[in-house]
Parts: sequence; structure tokens; C-alpha cells
Amino acid sequence: MVDFSYAIDPVYIATIFFFIVGLQRMSHPLTARSGIVWAGAAMLIATLATFLTPDLTNFTLMAIAIVIGGGFGYIAAKRVAMTDMPQMIALYNGMGGGAAAGISAVALLGTTATASFAVIGGLIGAISFAGSLIAFLKLQGWMGPRPITFLGQHVVNMTVLALAIISGVLVVWQPSRIPLTVAMYLPLFFVLSLGFGFLMTLPIGGADMPVVISMYNAFTGLAVALDGFSFATPNYAMVVAGIIVGAAGSLLTLQMARAMNRSISNVFFGAFGATEEKGMQIQGSMKSIGADDVAVMLAYANKVIIAPGYGMAVAQAQQKVKELTDLLESKNVQVKFAIHPVAGRMPGHMNVLLAEAGVAYDHLFDRDEVNPEFPSTDVVLVIGANDVVNPAAHRQGSPLFGMPILDVDQAKDVIVLKRGQGKGFAGIENDLFYRDNTRMLYGDAQESVGKLVQALKKL
Ligand code: TAP
Repeated sequence: MVDFSYAIDPVYIATIFFFIVGLQRMSHPLTARSGIVWAGAAMLIATLATFLTPDLTNFTLMAIAIVIGGGFGYIAAKRVAMTDMPQMIALYNGMGGGAAAGISAVALLGTTATASFAVIGGLIGAISFAGSLIAFLKLQGWMGPRPITFLGQHVVNMTVLALAIISGVLVVWQPSRIPLTVAMYLPLFFVLSLGFGFLMTLPIGGADMPVVISMYNAFTGLAVALDGFSFATPNYAMVVAGIIVGAAGSLLTLQMARAMNRSISNVFFGAFGATEEKGMQIQGSMKSIGADDVAVMLAYANKVIIAPGYGMAVAQAQQKVKELTDLLESKNVQVKFAIHPVAGRMPGHMNVLLAEAGVAYDHLFDRDEVNPEFPSTDVVLVIGANDVVNPAAHRQGSPLFGMPILDVDQAKDVIVLKRGQGKGFAGIENDLFYRDNTRMLYGDAQESVGKLVQALKKL
């Protein structure tokens, strides 16, 4: 058979270049879509290059695995609702961690691997696999979303981790790495590592879940990079791709935690549950308003800011919102969008939806840019947002205390579009809805915005 193995390294270098370009393009909403294509192409080429490895015999098995995995991924990604994306990411990331752990296991059962790299990669990969599965079950609603805690939890968790590390050390230290003795400790090592992943994720719940998924994403990257080093000849595509994922995942984790005012240790050890503030009494009442009245307020406003949230995604109201924006601008009303970094259920959720509807990117402003503008704003339309506009974040004692929010209550008038009295993701009351300058426009966001469009057209 012709030996093409000389082509593997140049192909890997090309894929590394593609990964980096892809990641760079993903950092801006306008180019993000093409960034995904670049990174996807890199992944495809790297996978195909594997077939060039000398002495490979199991082509059929590899091809079957690629068809099953690729087919499942394609169909699932086509079908998934945008609002279910976080659990899909958790599941796919878990598969990555599991694959990394599997590679470590195979490497450790052989005798040529650098065992220390394979063991650390295996530990991190198994933790990521088990933890991501729990995150998936919680987000999918197949397991209660609330934190699961028990007495002495941290001690139990740390003991399991310590035992996993000890068994990993025993795997590495086997005299001349005799396959039989390695095989004795290996199952124990993986069971303990998986156990730690499960246990570590149980006490995490609520709004901390996306932070956790992102951290497991970074773990998977790290595990893959370590596995890449564990081969007799390092696999540089795995090393570089793993490091990129590890670094990007770590940065995203830190940014999300900062946006929710949570420290990483707090996320993992704080058991964040939606506990309502003790003794908290909200003054006032919720006052409803009709679409016709809101349309008049909007038509006579100079400046309108739209603050979208998870409800806009559920209602799929983005197209109507774009129509409303165009209509207001045709009436010389200035329209801006206030984008909170954790509005919705995944990073960039609102940006993606609004870009999909054709809202120009220069209309979107992040929290720091837009907050000083609220006092000079005539009307704020809060469309399906709740936690990210909850002034309780400024009040000591509130579970949301310290979370940076959109200060929409500073505007002259605030109109909140939501279906009823439902709470936000954090499960706590929002006193914005009871303020004197707030009116509630009840109903599904798509229908309500549609009514606003109709009413505006008649004016
Ligand atoms: P939420 O606080 O979740 O509030 C969404 C609101 O939308 C609800 O109060 C609900 O009230 C309303 N709603 C639901 N369906 C609707 C529909 N069809 N039409 C109109 N309104 C509808 O949303 P948010 O302000 O965007 O905050 C996001 C929360 O999720 C934060 O706590 C954040 O930490 C967390 N989180 C964020 C992420 C990321 S990374 N973005 C990931 C996971 C969790 P009704 O039921 O009364 O309609």
C-alpha cells in the first residue's frame, strides 16, 4: 500500500491554522457563522488525516463510527430548538470528554504511551464526561434543576478525588508498566474519576449551569491536549486544538461568572439555589396596559431602548421585533437594543437571534455602553427579560445581589412584555414590575409585538 504518512504533519499544521482562523472569526457576530465553517472544516480534515496513519487496519470500524457520530450530530443539530442549545452543548462536550478518557485508557493499556500525560488526560476527560452528562440531565429537565446537597458533601467529594488521584498514580508507577497490573488499577481509576465528575456537579444548579458547562468544555480541551502529548509521537493537532479549546473555555467561564457576579469557587461550592430574600415586601402593584396605548407612547418617543431576554427566544419574537424597529425608525424614533451578557440561556443568545432577524449589529449595545443612556430614554421595552433587569441585584441580602443588570428602571417609562406573573430563571420576584413607571403588556411576546406593529401602522 502507498505510504502517505509524510502528509499527516503538514495536514495537521493546516488544520491548526484553520482552527485559529475559525476561533478568531467566532469572536464577532458578523463573522461567527463563517468561523464555525472554518473550524468544522478543520475538524473534518483532521479526522480524515487519521486514515493516513501507518499500520492502521481498522478502517471499517473507523468509518462506521464516523458515519454514526456524524449522522447523529447532524440530525440533532438540525432539530434542536435554539432554547435547548445549552443542553446540546453539554451533551456534545461530554462526548468529547468521554472520547479523551477513552483515548487515555487505550494508551495506558499499551506500553508506549507517556503514562503521566495519559492519566491526567483520563482523569480530566472522565470528570468532564460525567459532569457534562449531569448538566445535560438537569438542563433537559430529566433531573431536578435545583442543587442536590447532603451533609459532608465536600469531604466525600474530596475523598473520591484523592482516591482517583492515588489510583492514577498507581497506574503510572507500575514496575515496567506490566499490562496486567495496569489493567487492575485502571478500571478503579476511571470509576473514581467518573464518580467525582457526577458528585462535583450534583450541588450545582440554576443560573450557574452555563458557567459549569463552559468549564467542562475547557476541561475537555485540556484532556485532549494531554492525550495528544501522551503518544510516543505527539499528535500536534490534538495538542493545539485542545489548548485552544481549553483557553477559550476558561476565558468564557471567567467572563460568564463575572457577568453573573459569581466567583468560580462559589459556583462549585456555593450551591446557588433560588432562595427568596427573607422578610422582603414589595410595595405597589403590577399595572397592565394595552397594545394601543403602548403604540402611542412609542410613536411619540424620541428614544426607545429594547431589552430582550429569554422570553423573546421562547416566543420567537425576533422577526416581529425587527419589524417594530423598522417601523419606529421610519417615524424618526431612535431605537437601540440593550444586550445583557447572560440574557437568554447561552452566551450571545440575543445577538444570534437578532442577527438572524436582520437587526443591524450597530443597534446592539452591551450593558456598560447602554446603562448610562437609560435616564435619557423615553420608553424601554422589556421583551421577555426578567432576572437581567431585576433591581434586586442592587439590594444587599437578595440572592441576585451584585449581579450587574440593565438599569431599565431609570427610564421615563418601562413596558414589560411577558405572559403573566412568571418569575425569571433565578426564581425570585422582580420589583421592577411593581414600580410607578412600569406597565405590563401581558401575552406571548410575538403576539404582543405583532399587536404593537399593527397599532403603530394605524397611527
Ligand atoms: P429570565 O430571567 O429567565 O426571564 C424570562 C421571562 O420571560 C420570564 O419571566 C417569563 O415570564 C417570560 N417569558 C417566557 N416565555 C415567554 C413568552 N412566550 N412571551 C413573553 N414572555 C415570556 O430571562 P433573562 O432576563 O433573559 O435572564 C436570563 C437568566 O438565565 C439569568 O438568570 C441568567 O443567569 C440565566 N442563564 C443564562 C444563561 C446564559 S449564558 N445566557 C444560561 C443559563 C441561564 P412569564 O412566564 O410570565 O411569561
